[in-house]
Amino acid sequence: MPKINIGLSDEQREGVINFLNQDLADAYVLLVKTKKYHWDVIGPQFRTLHELWEEHYEALTETIDEIAERIRTLGGYPVGTMEGFLEIATLQEHAGEIPSATGMVAQLVEDHEKVVRNLREHINGCAEEFHDQGTADFLTELMEEHEEIAWMLRSFIEGQAIEPSGQQIETQGKTPIGV
Ligand SMILES: [Fe+2]
Repeated sequence: MPKINIGLSDEQREGVINFLNQDLADAYVLLVKTKKYHWDVIGPQFRTLHELWEEHYEALTETIDEIAERIRTLGGYPVGTMEGFLEIATLQEHAGEIPSATGMVAQLVEDHEKVVRNLREHINGCAEEFHDQGTADFLTELMEEHEEIAWMLRSFIEGQAIEPSGQQIETQGKTPIGV
């Protein structure tokens, strides 16, 4: 088998592949949740959310393929079983729950934000610890996509006194940034 000679040691590639497999697992959990909410959502926002989530799960399907192929590019194998994904994912499925439309949005905001935080850590790890600028760059673009989705979803629930955790809170007195 030819040795991979792209300027990264086996240890560096392994470290990056571990990050990527976790990101892959989380993307899969997010894909399944987004699809389930696309099916289950009810209420006056049905059409908007149903269609928005279709766009999101289509984007996630592409993302998943890109992450898996990046893993192969680095000489690794992507986790490819539901069992394996659930074992290493950082997102929770919350099986058996059907939240309200607002609750679904809040749940997905929380999940996309968690993915952004994970990616931010992985980008730093790829660049600083493992010297893999290529993967850092790839994950940076991915992080920006999740940031944008989180913003769009957050915009649905802002002003309804509901935080991403889904809990009712007092928003009076919150200082907006940039105003
Ligand atoms: Fe559909």
